[in-house]
Amino acid sequence: MNNIIEEYQRKFARFFGAERAFAFWKGRVALYALLRALNVGAGDEVILPGYTCVMNVNPIKYAGARPVYVDIEPNTFNMNVNLLEEKITNKTKVIIAQHTYGYPCEMNTIINIAQSSGICVIEDCCLALGSKYKGRMVGTFGRAGYFSSQWNKPYTTGLGGMVITSDRELAKRIESLAANEMCPPSGGEVEMLRMQLIIYRLFIYPRTTALAQGLFRYLTKKGAVVGSSSTSEFEPVKADDFFKAMSSVQARSGIRQLGKIEKNIAHRRKMAQLYDELLAARDWQGRNYNMDLSEPVMVRYPVRIAEKKEALARAAKAGIELGSWFECPLHPIETPLASYDYELGMCPEAEKASNEVVNLPLHPRASEKTVERSVDYITGFTQTG
Ligand SMILES: Cc1ncc(COP(=O)(O)O)c(C=O)c1O
Repeated sequence: MNNIIEEYQRKFARFFGAERAFAFWKGRVALYALLRALNVGAGDEVILPGYTCVMNVNPIKYAGARPVYVDIEPNTFNMNVNLLEEKITNKTKVIIAQHTYGYPCEMNTIINIAQSSGICVIEDCCLALGSKYKGRMVGTFGRAGYFSSQWNKPYTTGLGGMVITSDRELAKRIESLAANEMCPPSGGEVEMLRMQLIIYRLFIYPRTTALAQGLFRYLTKKGAVVGSSSTSEFEPVKADDFFKAMSSVQARSGIRQLGKIEKNIAHRRKMAQLYDELLAARDWQGRNYNMDLSEPVMVRYPVRIAEKKEALARAAKAGIELGSWFECPLHPIETPLASYDYELGMCPEAEKASNEVVNLPLHPRASEKTVERSVDYITGFTQTG
């Protein structure tokens, strides 16, 4: 493995106080490596919230296991821990604690339930880099945590994924799996990604994001850019080159981003507080989360509204960077839910949230002015509870 990737892994692990970190092409690949290293396979069940990205479910299917969905708690959008025990069977091997939007899950309860049943917990920190639960960073509670640095994530390396663990046995298994099965990205893919990162740094700001996203989706379909997901990934069938390594381009960018992580986190905290204040001043419900227990670092600021479709349709024209994940329990909407073992009605709170929640920007390019404009825009709609 080349030095720059090793350096990125070392620095990432050090940030969390974890023993080891392993870098991959994407977050979903990190999850796949983790599940395989945990010997998850045919006949096993993996529990996760029914409010996630389908790319997070693919690795479970690729490993041959069955995803089992738990409904969410409506304020935090995280797995409702009161519904967890009834989902556990003698086939349950892993629980994925997904820290949605940056809100830490109730880790104490999840770990207690898992331990009493001999089940392994891993943490999906793709939306929660830096969030703390009871003073400790998420990603360090379970056997392992995994992260994404795709375009919309806490920081971006274009695409990218990481696993952290302090379990030596597990680390050894990830290492041997990577050595035996992982393929390198193609030169063409890496070059395209490098160009995309340059364009992103130069041109993508809150006012231009919606336009850029439309163009990006179009170019992805035409195969002119490296998309976050290919069309083949909307079916649970693994492509031959899925298990792919991180490139030096991503690692170099990751090291740069990690160097600015404290500033990034402080900015996200400050902007989230500003949203809280501005929304409260208009009698809107902002974050409804117990901040005594945890310090969330939000990836986006979620708000529930009645006119989601209309708000999204008008946002680009108004120059507002309005996000819309998750649009269905297994985002995005076109997903054939049945082939992922999801039936409509399984997770009513997640389905309700999918119809109502939009999210507002908090990233380092979102200024106070961006927050003010976003609040002006969103409070023009009707808040739902
Ligand atoms: C909660 C969550 N976990 C994991 C992933 C997968 O991350 P990546 O896009 O880097 O594969 C996503 C999707 O982007 C996600 O939203």
